[in-house]
Amino acid sequence: MLRSTLETLRANNSLLETDKEVDYIYEMGAVLKYFNNKVPMLFNNIKGNPLSSVGGLYGDRMLIYDLLGIDHNNRIERFMNSIVNPQPYKVVSNGKVKENIIKRNIDIQRILPINKFQEKDSSSFITAGVMVVKDPDTGKFFTSIRRLQVNGGNQLSALIASPKLTNDFLELEKQGKPLEVAIILGYDAPFLMASQISSATYGVDKYMVDSSLRGEPLELVPCETVDLLVPANAEIVLEGRIVPNKRELEGPFGELMGYYGAQAPHPIIEVDCILHRNNPIYQTAFPCREEHVSNGLIREMELYYHLKNQVDVVDVNVTEGGGYRFNAFIAIRKHKKGDAKTAILAALGLNKDLKQVVIVNEDVNIFDLQEIEWAITTRSQASMDYTIVEGALGSSLEPSHDIRGVTDKVGIDATKPLEDNTGKFSRAIIPEYDNIDISKYFPNI
Ligand SMILES: Cc1cc2nc3c(=O)[nH]c(=O)nc-3n(C[C@H](O)[C@H](O)[C@H](O)COP(=O)(O)O)c2cc1C
Repeated sequence: MLRSTLETLRANNSLLETDKEVDYIYEMGAVLKYFNNKVPMLFNNIKGNPLSSVGGLYGDRMLIYDLLGIDHNNRIERFMNSIVNPQPYKVVSNGKVKENIIKRNIDIQRILPINKFQEKDSSSFITAGVMVVKDPDTGKFFTSIRRLQVNGGNQLSALIASPKLTNDFLELEKQGKPLEVAIILGYDAPFLMASQISSATYGVDKYMVDSSLRGEPLELVPCETVDLLVPANAEIVLEGRIVPNKRELEGPFGELMGYYGAQAPHPIIEVDCILHRNNPIYQTAFPCREEHVSNGLIREMELYYHLKNQVDVVDVNVTEGGGYRFNAFIAIRKHKKGDAKTAILAALGLNKDLKQVVIVNEDVNIFDLQEIEWAITTRSQASMDYTIVEGALGSSLEPSHDIRGVTDKVGIDATKPLEDNTGKFSRAIIPEYDNIDISKYFPNI
């Protein structure tokens, strides 16, 4: 889990470590943000708290590939394979996460250095916690990251934007029953990636997705006070219940796109037990864009397979600038006249979030913004190649949608005409450019 990830990062010189005192209120978030949340950082000296804290762990796409042992070209297939071929996990009787068990006088903020990040945030927030629940009917485990507001004492507020989890909770609430949860901190890349798979779409046990992705069974231990399993080697686990018929105001909170999310009543979690390893490391994530790359990678997988049913898709980029959910660049091999328009329709219909897509030929690097700009500029004409869908459902994380309650979606066909008889769309090339060896001329470069 986390400790072996830190060892790998240290061995690769990819971990920044500091013994300088840092305040978990604002200061630590500022340091994480300075590096765009893309550099893993271990803080060993937290002001007023004995724990160490790690952040910026999973904000870099290439680092996630490395930690998973995958690469850019096989990522989509590997994620889909873990869903289609989930593998069994392993239940063990004890694990390091149970080295310490706290059941009394739980004051979450006193125990953990939970960060306050931005000026108008309503409180401190746990931002990297993976919440696990068990489906009451099937016994399958579903994990997801949910931001958690610290309300004081043993109480947290949860922001849950999930049809499945919300429905499960509301169903239990009708019967006056709580929903048991555990919140896991201190995990590795396969555990994170499995948590980002949509429960409603695939209905697959995410501990089994994790076991498939890591190539060996995930080791789990039973919780102390709830009927759930959690990773035996996690750093910290909070066991609790989302209680019926109680709501607390949650937010504002500096969100995904760098704006504050609104304040609203949300369900609360009462924490009855905290498990932690000796000298636990508190895991955090600066909100939120960079850390959402994990979510974006799964969206890329969904978009790719959705498109594959209809067009010859080469690759997709659900972009960082678009919060890993609102914008996508798509490269296709164009075989028929309507391919690009069909790709636009398919992509915009994938989910409510995706609102801007650009379709390009396979000769354009969709991970290079300048190439996209070049393709739009030289291969599209607005009156013919822009498709606008007015007034669709959008996302409340995006203020231009929020102000109207609906969103306009746009697709740009920036592909060249199928047959370029004029030769106008052929790129100017230098023969043998790709084979040039610059060190021959400038040995020091
Ligand atoms: C860093 C990070 C923070 C997230 N915060 C939230 C959140 O506060 N609320 C939420 O509903 N989803 C959040 N998500 C997205 C969910 O974890 C993700 O969509 C997950 O797959 C949902 O699983 P589900 O299909 O069971 O809803 C976050 C994702 C990441 C990577």
